[in-house]
Amino acid sequence: MSLRFSRRQFLAGGLSLTGVCLAGPAWSNTARPSLPIPPLADGTNGEPLDLTIRTGLWSFKPGVMTPTLGINQDYLGPTIRTRRNKELNLNYHNTLTEGVSVHGHGLHVPGNVDGGPQLEMAPGERWQPTLSIMQPAATCWYHSHTHGKTGTQTYRGLAGMMIIDDDEAVSKELPNRYGLDDLPVIIQDRTFDAAGRLVYSLEQAGEDGWFGDTAVINGALSPVAEVPAGKVRLRILNGANARFYILAFADNRTFHKIASDGGLLEAPVPMTTMEMSPGERCEIIVDLSEDTSAELLTFFEDDIDEEGEGIVSGLVGLLTGPGQSAAPASLLLKVARTLVAHTVPVPERLTTIERPDASEIRKTREFVLEMDHGEDDRSHAGNTGGHGTHAGDGAMTINGAVMDMSVINERVERGVWERWRIRSDQGAHPFHVHGCSFLVEQMEGAAVTPDQAGWKDTVVLDDDDWSEFVVRFDHLAGDDFPYMYHCHILEHEDQGMMGQFTVTDTTG
Ligand code: C2O
Ligand code: CU
Ligand code: CU
Repeated sequence: MSLRFSRRQFLAGGLSLTGVCLAGPAWSNTARPSLPIPPLADGTNGEPLDLTIRTGLWSFKPGVMTPTLGINQDYLGPTIRTRRNKELNLNYHNTLTEGVSVHGHGLHVPGNVDGGPQLEMAPGERWQPTLSIMQPAATCWYHSHTHGKTGTQTYRGLAGMMIIDDDEAVSKELPNRYGLDDLPVIIQDRTFDAAGRLVYSLEQAGEDGWFGDTAVINGALSPVAEVPAGKVRLRILNGANARFYILAFADNRTFHKIASDGGLLEAPVPMTTMEMSPGERCEIIVDLSEDTSAELLTFFEDDIDEEGEGIVSGLVGLLTGPGQSAAPASLLLKVARTLVAHTVPVPERLTTIERPDASEIRKTREFVLEMDHGEDDRSHAGNTGGHGTHAGDGAMTINGAVMDMSVINERVERGVWERWRIRSDQGAHPFHVHGCSFLVEQMEGAAVTPDQAGWKDTVVLDDDDWSEFVVRFDHLAGDDFPYMYHCHILEHEDQGMMGQFTVTDTTG
């Protein structure tokens, strides 16, 4: 039985917090760190960006340094900026003593520059891909995709944000002053030992993956950002290894979701709470013109699930219950009236998304994600390998197979619309596909909601019903550098819940 048994119940029926007054955690503002803003690495002009993968020391908790990994810095990496119809040149240098591959999550680029596990840089090696950016404006990210080590390397810090701009998005006059009214918000969770150092173990991860006990935002605990008294855009990435989050503002205010993983929604969607699974990105606009501050809360979805009574009682219980042990981490947006504000209204139409006709869908594929317990050990995943094709006890599989780098699981024809149907035998999983954005039609058996109706590359599925999307691949990935599809719970991925596929002009 999954911990997540009630998620559809509250997602379906309980999204309103109307009338519930949420008191934020009792933080003293002076004690809170500022939101770290990763430096911008602007690759728009095609100049190569140097990206040095290195070890670091980072202070999550005041006064305690912990060994980390980063790109050009101690923890996480710069925000890479590029633009549609430009070339992005990257110059990675692996200075670690272990191999690393770095994947551009959400990018529509060919398999040979996608950064999957085949493209591992040995210690000391460089990798210099040229990426032709053909896709619409979007918030993407890059992270470790090293075979069997994605979870541990990402957890220690090998991840960063990537922003793609285009003329259409710029013409909408959305807030776009990076670090001022356009903020990267990377949510992760981490566990620290008594000395304040990061703790991680794939072997000791629970069957739902590795859950840190403390949420961090851009590597800081409950940070504060100074923002202008106007519209502020948050580019939110759930960069956690395994945890699903529910986001809401402490005063239950309405915000507008304007973009999903692969770019702008057709129209802004007003929301008060939002679920995000690992790997997903959401851009939201929050209006602070009338306020002195607003506090974004990041709830652990599994804590709310355990309440079993829907989101309203869950959230209130977390904030008011005994001990408040699970008080959510938060991001405080503090208005500075001296900053020039973005006051242009959010446009009613953002973009047009062309969906294929049913007659254009030429093939349907089905994927079933399974957690095979083997013996009756329900507390630990129990499988540390994931090598070899046959599923054994405790294996994490897709269609009965664990990830095998020597096996191509699916062969797809370029430029042809397909329908992919996915479900799991147990629990919720965020299913992610490389090299594309797709359009969700069904989520867990229900028609897609407007906030999920844009371009996506990660979709949640659960154990009762199919999630379905339509997808077309426009770039090539051959047998030597195939694309991946996988569960974005990184421990599930490392334990084998992943497959490989090619995209070619003839599938023979
Ligand atoms: Cu973000 Cu294959 O992953
Ligand atoms: Cu990806
Ligand atoms: Cu999974």
